[in-house]
Amino acid sequence: MTSAATAIDQPTLIEIAPTGQLTGATRHYEKQLGDMAGVYLDERAWTSAVEREGAETLIYSVDEQKYQDGPGALIVGTSTLLPGSYGDEFAVTRGHLHAISDRAELYYCLSGRGVMLLDTVDGRTAAVELTPGKAVNVPGHWIHRSVNVGDEPFVTLFSYAADAGQDYAIIAEAGGMKTLVVSDGDAGWTTIPNPRHRGYRKASA
Ligand code: NI
Repeated sequence: MTSAATAIDQPTLIEIAPTGQLTGATRHYEKQLGDMAGVYLDERAWTSAVEREGAETLIYSVDEQKYQDGPGALIVGTSTLLPGSYGDEFAVTRGHLHAISDRAELYYCLSGRGVMLLDTVDGRTAAVELTPGKAVNVPGHWIHRSVNVGDEPFVTLFSYAADAGQDYAIIAEAGGMKTLVVSDGDAGWTTIPNPRHRGYRKASA
């Protein structure tokens, strides 16, 4: 045997609150209302929300813990998406495809009520409702976005490969995802086709 030892990290205990607080976060980021330009179909509803509430209104925040790089490591984190609607459309995260597109991701709902909205570049689409105790195992090659269809913060715990990366542009370049999650006119939600969607380009990896 040579002396080239493999560095093995210590196991890490993470405490996760139902509100999304996570011990040992190495990264925190926030998206504000002003960052969501062009995301919602009803531009006027978004513009009037900016005028009414301010461009710096918090829409969602993410905390994540990355203790190691490389394809074998996991990133663990929480996403907190506040409730809201723009026209009939519920509040969403920007969404992405992993830059290494075969990388999967687990989302487990800690609190609130939401939907994981999913598309493939070749035209498949899915919407999975999440409430506390429910998780969605998102296979590789699916574009994914969280949607808050409730009236309290929608908090999820997620985990994915540390080398996955995010391609956010793929959604914007397509005119948005294939479907929109909108109010069903009662207390629920439904999906409708997004009239601006013009198909996805091929994934870069
Ligand atoms: Ni992801």
